[in-house]
Order: sequence, then structure tokens, then C-alpha cells
Amino acid sequence: MKYVVVNLKMNVLTKTAIDTYCSALIASYSRARLTGDVQIVVCPSAPHYDTVFARVSKHKWLSLGAQTVFWQTKGAFTGEISPRTLRDSGAEYVLIGHSERRHIGHVSGEEVGKKVRAALDARLTPIVLVGEESPDHDAGRTKKVLTEQLLEAFATVADYELSGCILAYEPVWAVGAGRTPSIDEIAAARIILRKVLLEKYRVDAAREMPILYGGSVSDRNVSEIVKQADLQGVVVGTAALDPACLVRIAYNCV
Ligand code: PGA
Repeated sequence: MKYVVVNLKMNVLTKTAIDTYCSALIASYSRARLTGDVQIVVCPSAPHYDTVFARVSKHKWLSLGAQTVFWQTKGAFTGEISPRTLRDSGAEYVLIGHSERRHIGHVSGEEVGKKVRAALDARLTPIVLVGEESPDHDAGRTKKVLTEQLLEAFATVADYELSGCILAYEPVWAVGAGRTPSIDEIAAARIILRKVLLEKYRVDAAREMPILYGGSVSDRNVSEIVKQADLQGVVVGTAALDPACLVRIAYNCV
């Protein structure tokens, strides 16, 4: 099974636009006749969950994901979204630790860990994003940053819960930048992440957890990234805004 996670960010602004997007995606997908097993997870803006869920719930290959979640379930937390509300809206997945949330929303590594806990408790699959910034990359600190972020995010996750989690390597400097690390760098990051998991968890659990790549993925580079770096899928932003391109990405993934 491969995952194509679609991070729409704040780019599709109206109900009409998101509905048109879903229709075009479903039409392109049926034309493409994909043979492999791909799960496309669409993460829209929160007010569009109902519109997207009404579309995705009719297709096994399509799921609803959220772009963020709060770590408390209920209470005086103006502006936040409870994991239970996400589940009730039909979301199955939630992005946690995206670099834009870490930076714009000032979400700390410790909070990422609490959000992962809250998501699992609500039976949501956390898609945990980790990645180094440009200065850390240039100074050779990628391993240190990835290890720290991963251990913080999975601080309370037990062996038996790992099968309900997805991890994504998303170098901050590649997001929306039109440039990606080399395949060797992506493969090296995957090896670092898998090794940290193997040190913390039972071998079978650590081996099976999907690891994805995100950051300037396109229909042209996806095949090489997924196949040569031995990954279980991708997180896509800019290129997924065109539903036909998104389907080409899914097609080239398997
Ligand atoms: P991008 O975004 O594909 O535009 O680089 C990816 C992401 O932010 O998850």
C-alpha cells in the first residue's frame, strides 16, 4: 500500500472550489485506471470537512485528513479543534508537526507529542512530519534534528500503537521551494528514522510503519523518490492543487 497525502493548506477557498476539486480528482482517478494499491488522503481547510467527506466516503481509495488538531479533547480552547470533532467529521488521518504549524503556530516538539497522543486516543491516524531547516541541513545536523523530533513526537506511543501511525520526512527547505534533496539524502533520512524506530520499538512494529517523503514532490520526481529511496508514499502540496497532476503522482507512485 502506498499513501499520497494531499496538503491543500489554505489554497482552496470556497465550498464550490473544493467540491469542483473533488469531482475533478474522482473523474481523473477513474480515467487513470490505477492498478496498484494507493490511498489518497485529502487534507482540506476545516470548514470544508463535511463537503470533502460527502465525496470521499463513497470511494475506498480516498480518505479525509485534517491539517491540524489540538491535544485536549474539550474545554476553553478558543480556535482549536478537538480530535473527537475531527473523528466525528469523518476524518481518519491528521497531519501533526508540519513545519508551517511548528513555525507559524509555534507548535513545540512537546506539543507535537501531545497531539499524537490525543489523535491516537481518538482513533485518528497521525501523519507525523519531521524535517530539518536549511542551516541544520548545511551544517550536517539532519540526523540530530530528525532523532530529536521523532522521539518527541512518539514519546508516549506504545509498540502496539505504531501500526496506527505514519511518519513523513519533510525537509523544511524543500517545502514549496521547487527543489528536493538528492535521492541519497532522502534514503539516508529514511534509514535514520527507521533506525530510531528500531531502537525504541519491537522489530516488526518498527519495520512496518510507513515512512513517506514530502517537499516539492511532482509527477516528474515522485517515481524516483518513492522507488529508489524505498518509501511508502509522499506528502504533496503545490503539485496536488491540480487534480490531474495529483492522479499522475498517485499513478507514478506504484
Ligand atoms: P509542497 O508542500 O509540495 O508544495 O512542497 C508539501 C507540504 O507542505 O506538505
